[in-house]
Amino acid sequence: MSNVAEIKLGEKSVSLPIVVGTEGEHAIDIAKLRSQTGYITLDDGYGNTGSCESAITFIDGEKGILRYRGIPIEELAQKSTFIETAYLIIYGNLPNHQQLRQFSDLLTRHELLHEDMKFHFQGFPAKAHPMAILSSMINACGCFSPTLLETESIPDFDIQAARLISQVRTIASFSYRKSRGLPMNYPKPTYKYTANLLHMMFSSPYEEVELNPEVVKALDLIFLLHADHEQNCSTSTVRMVASSRANLFASCSAGVCALWGPLHGGANQAVLEMLGEIHQSGDDGTRFIAAAKDKSSGKRLMGFGHRVYKNHDPRAKIIKAQCDRVLDTLHINDPLLDIAKRLEEATLNDSYFVERKLYPNVDFYSGIIMRALGIPLEMFTVMFAIGRMPGWIANYKEIMEEKETRIYRPRQIYTGSTVRGYIPIEER
Ligand code: SDX
Repeated sequence: MSNVAEIKLGEKSVSLPIVVGTEGEHAIDIAKLRSQTGYITLDDGYGNTGSCESAITFIDGEKGILRYRGIPIEELAQKSTFIETAYLIIYGNLPNHQQLRQFSDLLTRHELLHEDMKFHFQGFPAKAHPMAILSSMINACGCFSPTLLETESIPDFDIQAARLISQVRTIASFSYRKSRGLPMNYPKPTYKYTANLLHMMFSSPYEEVELNPEVVKALDLIFLLHADHEQNCSTSTVRMVASSRANLFASCSAGVCALWGPLHGGANQAVLEMLGEIHQSGDDGTRFIAAAKDKSSGKRLMGFGHRVYKNHDPRAKIIKAQCDRVLDTLHINDPLLDIAKRLEEATLNDSYFVERKLYPNVDFYSGIIMRALGIPLEMFTVMFAIGRMPGWIANYKEIMEEKETRIYRPRQIYTGSTVRGYIPIEER
């Protein structure tokens, strides 16, 4: 196959180089398109546009493949932990014993927030959404890392990365406790990452939370499955902000804001709200599915569909199996899970969903597990952010290590008024 693409525009013809990735993906490098033809490309929602080359995560949406640094998600889900996978995603390879010990020790050393951060929490109303608090507090954390703002390169990157991964958990638990008027719990250095989060969220001054190993494992798996996902909306936002050479905390704080939307990370909360609405209405799902197919209803089947996966989202399959295990272990019979399974079953034979290749995505079942673990609805997307932090950090590191980082600045096609004069207010 030729390594150039010939584009004919009227009398003109231009040759553009073809880039091939390690998994055989092909792209036309249009860097010289405008200078050679005056044309730009237009791609609403960037559905066909690659913003970068990256070595972190590979997705094949047609085959339902997801690999972090080449390792299939199914293997990591079965054999790894969130923190080991976070190391893999950020540093490129699985850690050996010493590297994992050092990484875990760094997370422990940096799990405490600066004591002055507590005043910020007091400033939020009790019902402030924890995603708003998380985004603000990540930036506030940066203020206590003065070296962060000093130089072009990221000084002590490992410490900054560990601080973010570790403290995002402390911030999340503090915002949950504050929203309930409960005293904040400090992290315990003897606990591992996910157990520590559950301790900080659910222990009380007079009673330690009982840490069921199945519960800890289920939440750790949710974090692992959310750890990265190539150039999704929030990760692209992190790269956009990083491209201006803003600091790591500012970039990840922006990522939190992008993730919050119900079409992205906010979908896990929206799925539970949808299942609750169906349950309350006594609908067996039929009416809601009909509404989701009717564009005028403004409703969508939340947790379904994906820009990249036109086959099953491999994460959804793993989470669904984990869902059954957790509810079985905790002896929970959740009617919302039954509704979710009925919805999935009904869509498999419905041409609307089949033709559009709409399958459950990562958000469809994750909320049911989190609900079973006692995590409140408004904290679901915060859990997604905790899981995605290593992916955001890895993408930040990757763009910062590029020889020549160009600021992200897309073009546009202008469709507004053509030139016209100023009209004095008396004549308007
Ligand atoms: C995440 O990008 C990532 O990798 C994201 C993520 C990650 O790990 O970072 O995987 C996490 O965000 C998962 C997605 C969570 N969002 C939802 O579950 C919200 C519901 N799903 C959709 O809104 C939608 O499917 C998106 C946003 C996920 C994808 O949107 P696209 O690719 O822009 O697809 P589209 O809106 O152009 O839809 C194509 C067609 C349309 O119908 P037609 O115009 O062809 O008739 O499919 C329909 C849509 O109306 N459609 C749906 C639907 N999703 C798409 N119809 C009903 N219910 C849905 N959920």
